[in-house]
Amino acid sequence: MSQPPAPEPIVIAVPKGRILSEALPLLAAAGIVPEPAFGDENSRALRFRTGDPGIELIRVRAFDVATFVAHGAAQLGIVGSDVLAEFDYPELYAPVDLDIGHCRLSVAEPAELAARDDPRGWSHVRVATKYPHVTAQHFARRGVQAECIKLNGAMELAPTLGLAARIVDLVSSGRTLKENGLVEVEPIMAVSARLVVNRAAMKTRAHVFPLVEAFRTAVGKKAA
Ligand code: PRP
Repeated sequence: MSQPPAPEPIVIAVPKGRILSEALPLLAAAGIVPEPAFGDENSRALRFRTGDPGIELIRVRAFDVATFVAHGAAQLGIVGSDVLAEFDYPELYAPVDLDIGHCRLSVAEPAELAARDDPRGWSHVRVATKYPHVTAQHFARRGVQAECIKLNGAMELAPTLGLAARIVDLVSSGRTLKENGLVEVEPIMAVSARLVVNRAAMKTRAHVFPLVEAFRTAVGKKAA
């Protein structure tokens, strides 16, 4: 008698970049052991096997993790709360704060401007950012009209090149701001990485819920 076909593997989307080194121990603690190429930044592969044939990993840009999971192309993902706030996808459920990828989203401007500037007096600002939605919302809440110029990276160049006097970007160590002559003048939100799940997959794929619980337990063990 022929065997029924193996179910499609669960796909977990993980962001590229510096969060990968923090995500690897967490994945291991959740029982997910990726093939060696996954942790190798030089590998050009995008889809990876794990020790469990029912689980695969993909490595994509941080903003794209939310897109893959929201559309059901991946069932789970690791994504910053900054990205969740920017997109606000109703298809995503974010049940676990993974306690990694801690940083903040802040308004920054050139140090010489900050020396004579008072954010409380702003009525209109022009801001270069990867986060136009969160930025507009932040300034609307405080009654400031914000004109956002969308960039996908290197926001720090905008003030010196006259694109926008201010930027809204992630700050972790503060090194990028410092090396570009900028200072933080207003925090917008604290950021950490969250486990996200496609809501439909949570209901239809039997393996999704145990994986969520495995991540929750892994985070709990790390905190203990
Ligand atoms: C982020 C962010 C800043 C930098 C801040 O970029 O956009 O440029 O990190 O970190 P720091 O305060 O420790 O210097 P990232 O390196 O993640 O790359 P990206 O530009 O592709 O987002």
